[in-house]
Amino acid sequence: MTTSLTFSDTVSGKAEGDVLVVTLNNPPVNAASAELRQGLWRALDHARSDNAVSAVVITGAGKSFVAGADIKEFGKPQVDPTLPAVVEKIEASEKPVIAAINGVALGGGCEIALAAHARIAHSKAKLGFPEVKLGIVPGAGGTQRLPRLVGCLEAVEMIGTGKPVNAEKAFGIGLIGAIAKGDLLSDALALAQSLKGKPVLRTSERIAPRSDQATVQNTIAKITLKAKGQMAPGEAMRLAASASTLSFTQGLSDERETFLRLRDSDQAKALRHVFFAERDAAKVDGLEHVEPLPLNKIGVCGLGLMGAGIATALLSAGYELIGYERDEPAAEAGKARILDILGKNLKSGRIDQADFERQAANLATTAKLRELAPCDLVIEAVFDDMTIKTELFQKLDLVIRSDAILATNTSYLDPDALAAETAHPERVIGLHFFSPANIMRLVEVVRCAQATPQAVATGFALAKKLGKLPIVTGVCEGFIGNSIFSAYRREAEFLLEDGALPQEIDAAMEDYGMAMGPFAVFDLAGLEIAWARRKREAPTRDPEARYVDIADRLCEAGRLGQKSGRGWYSYEAGKRTVDSAVTEMIAQSRAAKGITPRAIASEEIVKRLIGAMADEGKTLLDKAIAARASDIDLVMINGYGFPAYRGGPMFAASR
Ligand code: CAA
Repeated sequence: MTTSLTFSDTVSGKAEGDVLVVTLNNPPVNAASAELRQGLWRALDHARSDNAVSAVVITGAGKSFVAGADIKEFGKPQVDPTLPAVVEKIEASEKPVIAAINGVALGGGCEIALAAHARIAHSKAKLGFPEVKLGIVPGAGGTQRLPRLVGCLEAVEMIGTGKPVNAEKAFGIGLIGAIAKGDLLSDALALAQSLKGKPVLRTSERIAPRSDQATVQNTIAKITLKAKGQMAPGEAMRLAASASTLSFTQGLSDERETFLRLRDSDQAKALRHVFFAERDAAKVDGLEHVEPLPLNKIGVCGLGLMGAGIATALLSAGYELIGYERDEPAAEAGKARILDILGKNLKSGRIDQADFERQAANLATTAKLRELAPCDLVIEAVFDDMTIKTELFQKLDLVIRSDAILATNTSYLDPDALAAETAHPERVIGLHFFSPANIMRLVEVVRCAQATPQAVATGFALAKKLGKLPIVTGVCEGFIGNSIFSAYRREAEFLLEDGALPQEIDAAMEDYGMAMGPFAVFDLAGLEIAWARRKREAPTRDPEARYVDIADRLCEAGRLGQKSGRGWYSYEAGKRTVDSAVTEMIAQSRAAKGITPRAIASEEIVKRLIGAMADEGKTLLDKAIAARASDIDLVMINGYGFPAYRGGPMFAASR
């Protein structure tokens, strides 16, 4: 006989014989909200006091087991019972508690599973500790229980990187005891029957399997290096590694103290902002009820570095791809470039042999534009020149179906002008990828003036399908990212003229957390594109506006960046080196303008550069190019190396 019980709005129970099945149902992801914790608490009380219950199975409704603490509660007064208290109560139960992990068990969700006396998972389940991505450490025993199950090495890796593991890996390392062979609940009930009446096995009482200490320390060093500037990974790994030396109680109190300290840190606040910013970016005004067009076959025109990267991303997502180049040898070279990236993915283990073969079979290249006729969407990634792009779009317009989408990958050109040259401007959008396009997460989806909502929605959905982060932008020169980057460049050059040297500006920004300082980035990207733009703009430039000509002098001297071996720095043997010739050129330019250089502290450098980005951001918001400040933050974090733990320029400037 089955009896239904209600413990709270989000927690229900069902007696399956003498096993109480507790189901957590807090859509959309079963976050461990106060309501859910209270319900679970009551369910455990019920199980303890009801003699008819011999064991408990905890499972989740929907796609999640529990996706962790409710992030919306962070920063608000704590409501009892806390997650650590609930987790402790689970483990303390005298009757066996089985976690039947039906989907994602993340953070606090994984901690609930670890506190159970046995764990069985669906084959599609994922378990992990993403806390470091939120600037915190696990706060309900995760750093102490996980190593006691899987050893310090695996625990340090999982907790330090925040990457989840699938059920197979979880089983392999001992994180779960079984993967369901049939129906998860039936298997969990059978497991409960086999455990009832026996003494329970508490994770906190286990001794961590031995890990080689040198390897643990090496792993910590590697992850710390990658997580440069962030506090949480180092703290999380220190806690996990301490499980081999500290008692459970000592480790737990250290974990709690660290969790509370980090939860209120600026880094955690910034990373929470980023988390919610990403969810907000998915909500695009005007697209709420718009169905994207179905896409199967996609064309990419131009198979250089950018086009090949885009093509690889499309193949990885399962699309059939037709790559176009201007002649047969270029098409063959493009194909080889794409296959080379796929081969590297195979070699690194990112894809397996079957994936490689499937993706290679989905790839065709051609030098005949008419062969793009069956495409549902075509992305052009040819040289960023208006005449070349216009001609290509006009031809494509005649070749593809009238309902197929045309997307331009231009960085700076006006896509509205391009659309106006076609017979169907309503199907033209921008999809601005970042190089290497198979790796970089950001895609700016450009809402062209005449584009239909469906065309924009289709581009947006495509980027999501590629596993990218699409951000919608209006049309202006450089869209969101390059507009902000131009303001950053401008201010960096003002700083240069005022007295700071490139290496001082770069050091200040790298210490702040930027992946690279601005001048190192200019050199990497090459100085010629910005130079050409400055020359183009020269006739219309306001003669009263401040203009720094040092970059022009560099270009005139053939210092075009890393590719030419010299730019803001010199690159003998590939190593970035300060060049006295550049210092001299800067001094000459200042002297010619009568500027007396002054020492500029790194705090001022950072403040001025972030301020310049934020000011430009405000202009983009005023002009409705960006929908929200947090979209601008995401663009700079995911496309320009802005440190996520600073929240992006708009967030940083607002604090
Ligand atoms: N708390 C509150 N809300 C959450 C949440 C959480 N832990 N996780 C997801 N949500 C919300 C999102 O904000 C989003 O809300 P809106 O629809 O209102 O925008 C909604 O759930 C759906 O989220 P996604 O769009 O991300 O859905 P998805 O299906 O693509 O991904 C997921 C689901 C894998 C669970 C993903 O949401 C995720 O990774 N969530 C974060 C998990 C996490 O970081 N957990 C650790 C929390 S910290 C912790 O647990 C510390 C502790 O021990 C005390």
